[in-house]
Amino acid sequence: MSLEENTITCGDAFDLLRKVEDASVDLIICDGPYGVTQNEWDKVPSIQDFNLDLIQCFSAKLKDGGTVYLFGKQDCIDFIDYRPYLNLKTKIVWYQPSRLAQGRLSYTNNYDVICFFVKGKKPNRFNLDAIRVAQLVELEHRLRCERVPSVTNGKYAKTRFNETGKNPGDVWGDIKQLTYKSKELVSRNALNTIQKPEQLIERLIRASSNPGDLVLDPFAGVGTCPVVCKRNDRRFLAFERNPDFVAIGLSRLEELDPGQNGLKFAKVF
Ligand SMILES: C[S@@+](CC[C@H](N)C(=O)[O-])C[C@H]1O[C@@H](n2cnc3c(N)ncnc32)[C@H](O)[C@@H]1O
Repeated sequence: MSLEENTITCGDAFDLLRKVEDASVDLIICDGPYGVTQNEWDKVPSIQDFNLDLIQCFSAKLKDGGTVYLFGKQDCIDFIDYRPYLNLKTKIVWYQPSRLAQGRLSYTNNYDVICFFVKGKKPNRFNLDAIRVAQLVELEHRLRCERVPSVTNGKYAKTRFNETGKNPGDVWGDIKQLTYKSKELVSRNALNTIQKPEQLIERLIRASSNPGDLVLDPFAGVGTCPVVCKRNDRRFLAFERNPDFVAIGLSRLEELDPGQNGLKFAKVF
C-alpha cells in the first residue's frame, strides 16, 4: 500500500512511518505523546526512549537540511543521544500563562517545549520574513541598539530595526493555548492534551517549508497540521490512530474545500 498525500490516514504512526519513502520529507511536525497524562495514547514507558526511536526514524525520512519540530515537556529529550541523527538548533518555549497554578512541592510548569532539529548543519528553509512579530520598542531604545559597537571589531553592530517585525525568538508567549471559548476548538475532549492552535502550527510550517513541500505529521490528532498545510499549499502525510479524531480532522479539511474529502462530519461537543 502506498501512502496517500493530503489526507489523514487512520493507523499506527510507527507502522505507517515505515511506508514513507526515505529522504522524501521536508518538514516533520511531531506532536505525539508527552508521557504525562493518564490518556491511553499518552502512556509510554519512557518518553525519552520513545522520542529517540522517533528521531532515528525521522532522520531517515527527511531530506538533507530538512526540519523536525518535536513537542514535549521540559525533559522530553534529556539524557538521550540524538546527535548521530539530528542537530538540535533551538528549544522553543511555548509559554502558557493561563494554566492553573497547582504545584505544592515545586514550581508549576507553565510551558511546553518545541525542539527544533535539523538534519545536517543548516536548515534548507528558515523563512524569517514569513514569521516576523511586532517590534515593541520605543524609538530611543531602537536607536541605542543600532549604535551599540560590535564586540568583535568595534564597529557598529548589525542590529537594525526592521519595519516588518522581528524574529519571534525562542520564548513564545504571544500564541495562546485554546480555551473552551476558542472558536477553532473542535471538541471539548480535544482541549489541553489534543488540539493545538492553528496559529502555532502555522508559524512552524511557514518558517520551515515552502509551498509544494512535503510535511509529515505522524500524530495528527484532530487535524490541525493538515488544515494549516492545506491552507498554505503544502503537501502533507498525516497519521492518527483514533478514528474519531481522524473523522474530525477530515471534516476540518472538508470545510476548507467542500466536496474533496468525502463526508462532512458534525462537530462533537
Ligand atoms: C497531542 S495529540 C496531537 C494533536 C494535534 N497536533 C492537533 O492539533 O490536533 C497526539 C495524538 O497522537 C495520537 N497517537 C498517539 N500514539 C499514536 C500512534 N502510535 N499512532 C498514531 N497516533 C497516535 C493520539 O491519538 C493523539 O490524537
